[in-house]
Amino acid sequence: MSIVSAVPEDAGVVARLQVAFADEFDSPTPSVDVLEPRFRRLISDPAGTVLFAGSPPEPDGYAVVTFRPTVYCEGPLAVLDELYVRPGLRGRGIGTKLLAAAIDDMRRRGGGEMHINVDEPDTGARRFYERHGFVNIEFGGDGRMLCYIREFG
Ligand SMILES: CC(C)(COP(=O)(O)OP(=O)(O)OC[C@H]1O[C@@H](n2cnc3c(N)ncnc32)[C@H](O)[C@@H]1OP(=O)(O)O)[C@@H](O)C(=O)NCCC(=O)NCCS
Repeated sequence: MSIVSAVPEDAGVVARLQVAFADEFDSPTPSVDVLEPRFRRLISDPAGTVLFAGSPPEPDGYAVVTFRPTVYCEGPLAVLDELYVRPGLRGRGIGTKLLAAAIDDMRRRGGGEMHINVDEPDTGARRFYERHGFVNIEFGGDGRMLCYIREFG
């Protein structure tokens, strides 16, 4: 199973995976029609990347990573926006390969830090990230880091 970078023409494939991800967790999501042009823009933007495990049109999973300038390290700060493996294929190392490829991409850009937002009840995903070295306690501190969000409609 190989990891490949999506091209703008793959935007529809990514949009359908994104909707499948949201549906599995009963999360509200824009429709494929709305997401497809957004993913095309993101994939076309040097500050965004989508990785597939396996090949389109039926990849096994995907990761979405965005990059922004930061003063915390020389290169960009990476945000892992999405990581998803199709339900029947989990527990076979595909998520690990996608995460490793996302980290490799960040390091090639000179980045040194990756952020991930995880829902507290999603204990499977939390265990997965913790096993890969991610923490939710600031280094040297003892309180949990929290993510504050405000939506501006
Ligand atoms: C989290 C996820 C990407 C991991 O991918 P994966 O291919 O199953 O991961 P790997 O095979 O490399 O590693 C297996 C680990 O994934 C985690 N995991 C989370 N949900 C899992 C599931 N339903 N089945 C199997 N493993 C799962 C576990 O930590 C598991 O390790 P364990 O042996 O301690 O249970 C995948 O389970 C998934 O798509 N989950 C739903 C979407 C999600 O929660 N994404 C993260 C959002 S922040």
